[in-house]
Amino acid sequence: MSQSQTYAGRTALVTGASSGIGAGLARALAERGADLVLVARRADALEELAAQVRAAHGRTVHVAPADLGAPGAGRDLHERVLALGLHVDVLVNNAGFGVAGPVAGADADALVAQVPVNCSAVVDLTTRFLPAMVARRSGVVVNVASVAALQPVPGLAVYAATKAFVLSFTEALWAEQRGTGVRVLAVCPGPTDTPFFEVAGEESDSGLPRRTVDDVVATTLRALQSGGPSVVDGPLFTALGVVARLMPRGVVARVSGMVARPKG
Ligand SMILES: NC(=O)c1ccc[n+]([C@@H]2O[C@H](COP(=O)([O-])OP(=O)(O)OC[C@H]3O[C@@H](n4cnc5c(N)ncnc54)[C@H](OP(=O)(O)O)[C@@H]3O)[C@@H](O)[C@H]2O)c1
Repeated sequence: MSQSQTYAGRTALVTGASSGIGAGLARALAERGADLVLVARRADALEELAAQVRAAHGRTVHVAPADLGAPGAGRDLHERVLALGLHVDVLVNNAGFGVAGPVAGADADALVAQVPVNCSAVVDLTTRFLPAMVARRSGVVVNVASVAALQPVPGLAVYAATKAFVLSFTEALWAEQRGTGVRVLAVCPGPTDTPFFEVAGEESDSGLPRRTVDDVVATTLRALQSGGPSVVDGPLFTALGVVARLMPRGVVARVSGMVARPKG
């Protein structure tokens, strides 16, 4: 998916397209010629983006509202896409959210709710859409993880664990898919200026400088041109990710908790 590469005649399904990084990736794909299937719970936000993309780029855009945390959501979405007669050439598993705060005293239902959206839906949609890509010997799967995947994060313990799951799953899938014509990539954004922090709660805001959605989109596009299984957005967190791999896990967990703690 290079800047110059055309996606004309291709269909990209983007989850979490109603705001933030997902909306940015959807726009970037449409700019490069892709037709879109936009997925999230907020149908009105998806319709708004669809109208903008149709007007700006003349693309065919389908809106497929779905709660990816609901049982059977992946199967239903796959069936809806097939019923539309579409082949998904580019699957972007981006939908996700965090819940900030220590585990002790947390609402168990709220913590657990991260797992089906951040983890199960990624596995489900990937597994359902992948065989057709393999059969066509062509396709792209982008799974949005996080720099939180690179080390445990006290205060975001479950969220970080879900993103470690996404990163591990995606890197393994990358190796499985080598030579098939299907490009698999995990993207690890650091703090990025989106509504993520409003959803996660103020304890999720460490006060670290935030990257922009455009930064994450550009990093994703660049990484898809290279062959690697994963990419970290931005030089600061790329360096911190390397350091985290070298340090003892106990030290990493404690330092990560200090860095992630809200400031001010
Ligand atoms: N912003 C950051 O600092 C940051 C850093 C690293 C990784 N990430 C990851 O980047 C991805 C995008 O987040 P963002 O920063 O762009 O935040 P965002 O603006 O809050 O976007 C999250 C998206 O996920 C969708 N979503 C949430 N729950 C859903 C559900 N049950 N079913 C379907 N869609 C659901 C939301 O749509 P609806 O509410 O309409 O359903 C929204 O479109 C997430 O996976 C996040 O973990 C973000």
